[in-house]
Amino acid sequence: MNILMVGAGSMSESLVRGWIDSGIAPESITMTNRADRKRLSELANEHGVQIIEEESIESFDIVVLAMQPEGVLEYVKRHEWTNQLLVSVAAHITPDEIEQISGCGAVCAMPNTPVAFRTGMTGLWFGHQVAMEQKQLATELFLRVGEVVETDETTMPFLMAAAGCSPAFFYEIVGAMTPVLTEAGFEAQQARRIIAQAMKGSAELLLQDARPTDALIDDVAAPNGPTDRGVQVLRTHELKKIMRAALSESAREA
Ligand SMILES: NC(=O)c1ccc[n+]([C@@H]2O[C@H](COP(=O)([O-])OP(=O)(O)OC[C@H]3O[C@@H](n4cnc5c(N)ncnc54)[C@H](OP(=O)(O)O)[C@@H]3O)[C@@H](O)[C@H]2O)c1
Repeated sequence: MNILMVGAGSMSESLVRGWIDSGIAPESITMTNRADRKRLSELANEHGVQIIEEESIESFDIVVLAMQPEGVLEYVKRHEWTNQLLVSVAAHITPDEIEQISGCGAVCAMPNTPVAFRTGMTGLWFGHQVAMEQKQLATELFLRVGEVVETDETTMPFLMAAAGCSPAFFYEIVGAMTPVLTEAGFEAQQARRIIAQAMKGSAELLLQDARPTDALIDDVAAPNGPTDRGVQVLRTHELKKIMRAALSESAREA
């Protein structure tokens, strides 16, 4: 399986990092970009992938379009397609648009950067021309770097907001909590690790325990104890309303 990564930015590198860590041979991955040759050389040195300036599409089975959205359809138009599986990770593009131009099956994938550590969450929106084996291939590829959920035109914006945008929401929360610990005497990096590790453990618990979130809160919040009082502060300031508004806004934009 030969994979071409068109675009060598943070999303492309995160996927490549995760895929190599999952056992895909670096030599079977080729990366290209538009102009920044230095960046390509750095990626080749760091990950052992192939790099290329002028790609011939026919030598690849899977082509991942990992550039900014405005470049995607123009790139598809400029090339001859035989029977590649096209995977676009760009927002605002539909698989049907890509299929109409290329004549090949296309998948719009919405991963997030944790794919680098194989803890990603990817939404896959399959075009009408994607064959069953291609569907399986794309699903397996993204399962190597985290979890996968099938999306469509209606659900994709919400998946994108919940998985793609929400890491920034969590960083905002960590950024707000960290000073409380540094003011108490912890080093900044130590403070960040304490909060991040607590979030990581809580996320693990959420993945393992299907009970409603209120039941999980009850497990750790004795009435009028420190956790309960903290939770009451969040409720007084209507955190639920804020998070709902943030997610809805990101989904609207998506
Ligand atoms: N970052 C995320 O968390 C995230 C999450 C989900 C989806 N995405 C999507 O992933 C895509 C890339 O995001 P990013 O954050 O990695 O962007 P980025 O860091 O700006 O990187 C974009 C890359 O695309 C290359 N490029 C642009 N036009 C090209 C063309 N015509 N042919 C070949 N290469 C081209 C650029 O090359 P030069 O530098 O040489 O111009 C650069 O390597 C976007 O569509 C974004 O919506 C990103």
